[in-house]
Amino acid sequence: MYPLRRNRRLRTNESIRSMVRDTIISPNDFIVPLFIVEGKNVKEEIASMPGYYRYSLDLIEKEVKELWNMGLKSVLLFVKVSDDLKDNAGTEAINPEGLMQRAVKTVKNAVPHMIVMTDVALDPYSAYGHDGIIADGKILNDDTTAVLSGMALSHAKAGADFVAPSDMMDGRIFEIRSLLEDEGFHDTGIMSYSAKYASAFYGPFRDALDSAPVEAQNIPGDKKTYQMDPANRDEAIRETLMDIEEGADIVMVKPGLCYLDIVRDIKNAVNVPVAVYQVSGEYAMIKAASEKGWLDHDAVMMEQLTAIKRAGANMIASYFAKEAVKLIS
Ligand code: PBG
Repeated sequence: MYPLRRNRRLRTNESIRSMVRDTIISPNDFIVPLFIVEGKNVKEEIASMPGYYRYSLDLIEKEVKELWNMGLKSVLLFVKVSDDLKDNAGTEAINPEGLMQRAVKTVKNAVPHMIVMTDVALDPYSAYGHDGIIADGKILNDDTTAVLSGMALSHAKAGADFVAPSDMMDGRIFEIRSLLEDEGFHDTGIMSYSAKYASAFYGPFRDALDSAPVEAQNIPGDKKTYQMDPANRDEAIRETLMDIEEGADIVMVKPGLCYLDIVRDIKNAVNVPVAVYQVSGEYAMIKAASEKGWLDHDAVMMEQLTAIKRAGANMIASYFAKEAVKLIS
């Protein structure tokens, strides 16, 4: 009780503050998302993600070497697929010579110890921008998981360390784990996007991959029949526990900042590592406000990353990974 307790003593200066600090951001915390396109010598800035680029495979080599030298040890790959390769069934997704499959090999050759994670979802390959096959006004769950498991297997064959299903179909972790086991890929891990919300914060990402969902065959141009309702809390635990039972090694909450209550719920409910995806819209907001001079970019970036980790994230997929590591090193 005051004056016996004076809490400000432990805030007197940076030396004491750093000694009593709970949460410290380090390069080990990050998963770096990378956007990949066909072509040579391509480095295109994404309009709604200033300072973030799509790279062709030749330039990805240089980029992953740079990441590795900064202490960043994990990447999450996404590919931009050309329109003529898109269809309803995501056929191109399982092409062993597809861009993703070549990208995995390229990164592994360039930096063998880099942890390579791959996005497993149909949307970049779908003519409709959906994560599932569509028919009769519906997203077909089980037909989709059959393609997703084949896709995951093709990534494992290419050398992926983890496959990361981001689609939110029911049962996809079970289907993927079963096929990987049957085919002998016992060591390929699964990072499941287990509590993934139907969020409006994915807009810039969909610009990056040209993958926005469109209205087609009586299905609206949104993902609300598979991604979760932002209003729901207990459902996130149910989704996550099921994914663990089905074989997920790492679970994920997405997006980050608006969902830190969910991160803490899940951290308290599970005994596997929890990842958080600080998504494209979260990146864009900080960039836009700081460009206008309304927010201090670096301070806000570090505050948000620290808050995500404090909430319970064991790792953070973030477009700020490089900038944050430069700032702290
Ligand atoms: C694809 C996928 C999305 C993101 C990651 N994987 C988009 C979506 O579900 O529409 C979003 C990432 C971001 O916004 O940074 N299934």
